Amino acid sequence: MHLIQRTAGLTAVAVLWATSALAQGYPERQITMVVPFAAGGPTDTVGRLIAERMSEDLGQQILVENVGGAGGTLGAQQVADAEADGYTILLHHIGMATAPTLYRNLAFDPVADFAPVGLVTEVPMTIVARADFEPADAASFIQYVKDNADTVTMANAGIGAASHLCGMLFMQAVDAPIVTVPYRGTGPAMTELVGGQIDIMCDQTTNTTEQIKGGTIKAYAVTTPERLDILPDLPTVAEAGLPGMEVSVWHGIYAPAGTPQEAIDRLSTALQTALADPDVASQLGELGTAPSPAEDATPTALQAKLSGEIERWRPVIEEAGVYAD
Ligand code: MLT
Repeated sequence: MHLIQRTAGLTAVAVLWATSALAQGYPERQITMVVPFAAGGPTDTVGRLIAERMSEDLGQQILVENVGGAGGTLGAQQVADAEADGYTILLHHIGMATAPTLYRNLAFDPVADFAPVGLVTEVPMTIVARADFEPADAASFIQYVKDNADTVTMANAGIGAASHLCGMLFMQAVDAPIVTVPYRGTGPAMTELVGGQIDIMCDQTTNTTEQIKGGTIKAYAVTTPERLDILPDLPTVAEAGLPGMEVSVWHGIYAPAGTPQEAIDRLSTALQTALADPDVASQLGELGTAPSPAEDATPTALQAKLSGEIERWRPVIEEAGVYAD
């Protein structure tokens, strides 16, 4: 047999071995899931919930690492720069789609630098305030904010966070610039809202539902077209007279670009299995949200969602003229 043929044969065998070993062996060790916001917030809640159930299916632990800062872009950057071996993944949300417009010098490309795995859930947002905030209902809340825009303080998780986006939409709806205070996540922000150190916030039901039900914060509206079953007395933004504020925070899982397809497919399968688990659906339901359907927990669906949302939010952000750099 000529040397070239023998070499070609050995190369083919090596590729087959590598592929089959990866397919059979992946994952062989624990996986890091970067959550780009502080522990205890809504993104962290979704991350830990889905990581726990995916770990069971994968047979390896998915460990959550909180990397907060800059509205989620620091954590996303860490994953963009990570080894594309299937052992570092990112759980992020709508912030992946707003960052390219908000950060004009963004050091990563949310599309080119990542391999999508699948959508996880879409979470409603609620406009909330400290429990002793004066206005009793949505109409008086809006008027109060308009009249006191220079003294009302609004928390968010940094430019690019969902809480920042919702706050931007809120300021456009009430036509009043409000003092905003950034945190490394809305988990820490919620602590100060409950403590009364900050006045208002727009945050996801995964972080606000229990506080609203417990009366430790006040709620004025939800950003969905219909009222939520778990918060039936909470008006929608349309009912509250806040046009253009319908937004839901979709979450997806990504790996660094170049991650082997076998790993991507295995992660997507584990995600779909986790989302089909009635216990996961029940836990998400208690927090005002629901699992993404299996057909959306795929690389193709997340890719389409991300690309469409980048184009959707670009003109909205450009009209607001709010940029991080
Ligand atoms: C945000 O975008 O506001 C984040 O969801 C906040 C967080 O998860 O801490």
